[in-house]
Parts: sequence; C-alpha cells; structure tokens
Amino acid sequence: MAIRFVTAGESHGPGLTAILEGIPAGLELRREEIDRDLARRQLGHGRGGRMKIERDQVRVSAGLRHGRTLGSPLALHVDNLDYRNWEERMNPWPVETAVEEVHLPRPGHADLPGLLKYGHSDVRNVLERASARETAARVAVGAVCRALLRELGVEVRSHVVQIGSVRAAVPEELAVEDFEGVDESPVRCLDEEAGAAMVAEIDRARKANESLGGVFEVRAWGLVPGLGSHVSWDSRLDGRLAQAIMSIQAMKGVAIGDAFDVAGRVGSQAHDEIFWSQERGYWRATNRAGGLEGGMTNGEPLIVRGAMKPLPTLTRPLRSVDVVTKEPAQALRERTDSCTVPAAGVVGEAMVAVVLADAYLEKFGGDHLDDLRGALEAYKKRIGWRR
Ligand SMILES: Cc1cc2nc3c(=O)[nH]c(=O)nc-3n(C[C@H](O)[C@H](O)[C@H](O)COP(=O)(O)O)c2cc1C
Repeated sequence: MAIRFVTAGESHGPGLTAILEGIPAGLELRREEIDRDLARRQLGHGRGGRMKIERDQVRVSAGLRHGRTLGSPLALHVDNLDYRNWEERMNPWPVETAVEEVHLPRPGHADLPGLLKYGHSDVRNVLERASARETAARVAVGAVCRALLRELGVEVRSHVVQIGSVRAAVPEELAVEDFEGVDESPVRCLDEEAGAAMVAEIDRARKANESLGGVFEVRAWGLVPGLGSHVSWDSRLDGRLAQAIMSIQAMKGVAIGDAFDVAGRVGSQAHDEIFWSQERGYWRATNRAGGLEGGMTNGEPLIVRGAMKPLPTLTRPLRSVDVVTKEPAQALRERTDSCTVPAAGVVGEAMVAVVLADAYLEKFGGDHLDDLRGALEAYKKRIGWRR
C-alpha cells in the first residue's frame, strides 16, 4: 500500500487521532475543507444528542507546514468535547471515584465478542472503541486524500439511496454538479420526494423506539483507466474498495455498479459495450460495471454502494444477559442515533477517497505532488486518454 493510516481514540475519551503516511510533499491543505467534511459527517436526520455537543474540527500537529504537506506522516486530531462530561469515567489515568462497570452487552454490537476476546469485565472497554465516533478520524484522513485526488482531476461524492423501506429513484447518469445541494437534504438524498418519505420513516421509527439502516452510494469521476490490477487477488481495486466500505461500522453489504441486479440478468444486458470516437477515444453507453472491469478502473465513473444495518443500540433494548450474574436482562441503553445512513455516506466517501488516492500513488508514485502529476500525464499520453 502506498498510503497507510491508523486511527486511535475512544468515543468519550479525550479525542481521536489519525496518523496518515504516504501523502506526497507539496499538497496544499485547507483547514476549512477538512472541517467541512467533519461537519457533514455530523449531519443527518436521525442523529441523537451527541452530535449537538460536538463541533468537530481538525488539529494538525505533524506533516504540514504553512498549509503544505512535507511528505512526512500527518498527525490529525479531533477533540471530543463530550470528554468534559466523561472525565472520570474515561480518564486515561486512575481516578479517585469508583466508576460503575457496564455488564449488559447489546446484541448487534461489538460488546460481547469484544469482552470475551480481550478479557474485560466492563463492556465499556469494548464499546468505546467500537463506536463509530472513530469515523471522525477517518473523515479527516479522507479529506486529505480528497484534496490529493482533486489535484489529479478526481471528485468523489455520495448520496443516500435507501432508508428503511424507502428507496430513492436514481438516474442512470449523475454528474458531480448534480450533487451540489445534497448536504442540504436532511437525509442527503437527491430525490426530494423520497427524501421527505425517508424523514417520515425515521420519525416513525424513532417514536416506536426503533432504529433504521439503509443504503448509500459513492461515485467518483475523472479516474484514469488502469487503477488497480487483474494480476493478483489483492491488487484488484474492487476487492480493496469492498474492504474499505465493509470496514465502516454497521456495513453488511457492498455493491459495485449494478451488482446484485446484474446477477439476475442475461449476459447481453449485463455489460457495457465498447465504442471509440476521434473526440472521446474509448467510451461506453452504459455503466453497469460501475467503472470497474477485471479489478481495474475502466475510465467510467466509479459507483459503489454500502448497505447498512439498523443501529444496534435501541431505546427499547433487546434481550441480553448480565455478564457477571448471567441473569437475563435488557441490553445497555446508551445514548444513540436512530439512523445514520446520511453520515455513513460521508464516511463512505472518505474510505473511497483513501483507496483511490492509494491506487494513484501506487501506480504513479512520487515524493512531490509534481512527480505524481508528471507520471500521470505521461501515462495519459501513452494510452491516448483525452478526458
Ligand atoms: C456514522 C455512524 C454512526 C453510528 N452511530 C451509532 C449509534 O449511535 N448507535 C449504535 O448503536 N450504532 C451506531 N453505529 C453502528 C455501530 O458502530 C456498529 O453497528 C457496531 O460498531 C458493531 O459493528 P457491526 O455493526 O459492523 O457489526 C454507527 C455507525 C456509523 C457508520
């Protein structure tokens, strides 16, 4: 991998940190752009009280000087403002007061397997890290990768296509410009009518003490053909994207292009015929493959979807067992969102941006942004790529 990153931090601890390695020198970063993505991750109808407390902003403590990357690892931090309410319970150091342990694992969460695996008695020692608060750090990393991709002519966007039983109508072709107002929609949905129905579905679910899942879609434009490779299982870009999306908390499925729909069609209706013209070079009239063939980009827009399960923390908890007494009990009632598909889409964008930036750096290399640009231009010339 050309890019590596690791995050650290607990949901109610002092904050989240990401170390990102592999970004070339000379890339301009704008704090407000990273903060904008962090704010987008906090939005969406169906969020709980926590997001009213947090005002996520990035702090950079390494790898950047006067707004330009140095080529050294970037250290990105997002503080947890809520830590002030948890200082005793989540202090990294011993505290005087006795802190009550949590003994009621939630079905569908990391609580029970994590407790068994790590030998804890307190479920909080697992849930704090399993929480998707961690995705704030990923979004900061994704914003850096997005800045790199923009320099290479690549744009990444997302929208929500399903919440609960409500599905949006999705046009076959979407341009970057079509996504302009998407963050103004309370559910980040491009189909206004479906968006309103999604809001109503979330309200109904919340009233019934239920949570909801759904599906988001990430698209990327401006990709050159040949990112990723067919030659080995772990160099296939479809596999790398699937892993990146599946690594997001609560994702239970990934689809590339028409995916599950295509599985039920005949071959002639499943693929994208190849055309060539003087002005455009190679082009396709359809994009059923979602921009990937043989584990490589084919020059068409990338289309990836993530299917999210309903959130496991419920305001009317499911049955569980007290891990100390082994008596039947109701699962922990922790403060929770009721639907976070809109936010998950923003995290999906970040993860796709990481994979694509990695694929560009792997193919074109470069310690300075200009080296990367130069190698990209030389490749485009060799293959006669005009877009
Ligand atoms: C953006 C985002 C926010 C989330 N918020 C919550 C939440 O408030 N409550 C909850 O129970 N799960 C939430 N989750 C999902 C859990 O973190 C996830 O279900 C849990 O870590 C178990 O992992 P698994 O579902 O992948 O098996 C959220 C996920 C994402 C992507």
